Amino acid sequence: MREATQDAVSRVDEDRLWRRHLEMAGIGAIPGNGVNRAAFSSEDIAARKRLVHWARARGFSVSVDDIGNLFVRRSGHDARAAPVMTGSHMDSQPRGGRFDGIYGVLAGLEALEAIDAAGAKTRHPIELVAWSNEEGGRFAPCTMGSAVFAGARQLADFLDVKDNEGVALRDALHDTLTAMPDAAPHAFATPVAAYVEAHIEQGPRLEMESKTIGVVTGIQGLRWFNVEVFGETTHAGTTPLNVRRDALREAVAIIVALHELTREVDDALRFTVGRMVVTPNSPNSVASHVLFSVDLRHPDPATIRRLGDAVEPVVRGTAKHCKVKVTPTLWDDPCVFDPGVVDAIEHAAEALGIANMRMPSGASHDAMYLARVCPTGMIFVPCERGVSHNEAENAKPEDLAAGARVLTATLLELANR
Ligand code: GLV
Ligand code: MN
Ligand code: MN
Repeated sequence: MREATQDAVSRVDEDRLWRRHLEMAGIGAIPGNGVNRAAFSSEDIAARKRLVHWARARGFSVSVDDIGNLFVRRSGHDARAAPVMTGSHMDSQPRGGRFDGIYGVLAGLEALEAIDAAGAKTRHPIELVAWSNEEGGRFAPCTMGSAVFAGARQLADFLDVKDNEGVALRDALHDTLTAMPDAAPHAFATPVAAYVEAHIEQGPRLEMESKTIGVVTGIQGLRWFNVEVFGETTHAGTTPLNVRRDALREAVAIIVALHELTREVDDALRFTVGRMVVTPNSPNSVASHVLFSVDLRHPDPATIRRLGDAVEPVVRGTAKHCKVKVTPTLWDDPCVFDPGVVDAIEHAAEALGIANMRMPSGASHDAMYLARVCPTGMIFVPCERGVSHNEAENAKPEDLAAGARVLTATLLELANR
């Protein structure tokens, strides 16, 4: 490992990285040590301001694009070279933990600061990015900011998406952008030399195998749908069962039928109905409308295609008394990361003497969209019992720091190519 890289790696500060996690966890803190920092909420805005404060204190420049992706840049010495990027997201699940997403942002900032403190010169600029609305828990689908940046989706496709309270994304995004008036504008689809994202594993393999670093080889495919069931609201005490058009009862039957689809597939399949919005949501009114989500995942593109294509026929074939509508909201085929970036991460971990293993990702990440536009890879660190999307999500300060060291060395290697 080059001396300049060793110097930068030695400046990764475990205490500072941990303190920043605790400080960010205070923004949107919920009981049980968790975090609720929905995309484009006041908590999301507060987290952005905190990040900008830390970045500016180091003299890094800050910019933002029209979907709120936030960029922090340390210049390189070749004015024509595209940036090497790192980052993740600052939004959380409604009952999320202290590490999902925010770790990749804080590890990226830690790497930038360590590289800067070492005075390391790089040919490419290094840019930290906090992608907007990775979780999709408030505004579906997930990974919106990176999808729009990478040109896979258009911002206009998402402006009318509503949260459970009926707030439109366009209004929440407007509030977010106006809260950052002094960030310079950043365009979509600007060239990126390479992208490396650090993240907690969100599964138990690293812990089970006593490894500190997961060298991620790719991400499984997923498809999302919104299913709507349209019935009629009437009085629960007076309306005979046989004349009802009960949207909730029909939704339950549809979900059971969709579950049957999963029986014929191997155990790599993931199927989740995690969101349901019932109208009018009253114990003594028959439901007039139900919206529920479907999240399907599998590593094989043909399986994910076949199962996703079966969703609408099953929904239509099961509905008896209500009208139904199926809206696909996301289709990401499995992605394979760039061998050059995967190797660079593995070499960095080896050179630092950190126990590592190659592994695929079951969870989705912004890296999936970046992989469409530049060489991309990911670094996983262990989280306790693999628990994630849960308030109890936990990770060790030393593992977080180890991931930041591997990230620092990898970024320096890529930024000098
Ligand atoms: C991201 O959190 C995902 O749904 O995998
Ligand atoms: Mn995440
Ligand atoms: Mn997540």
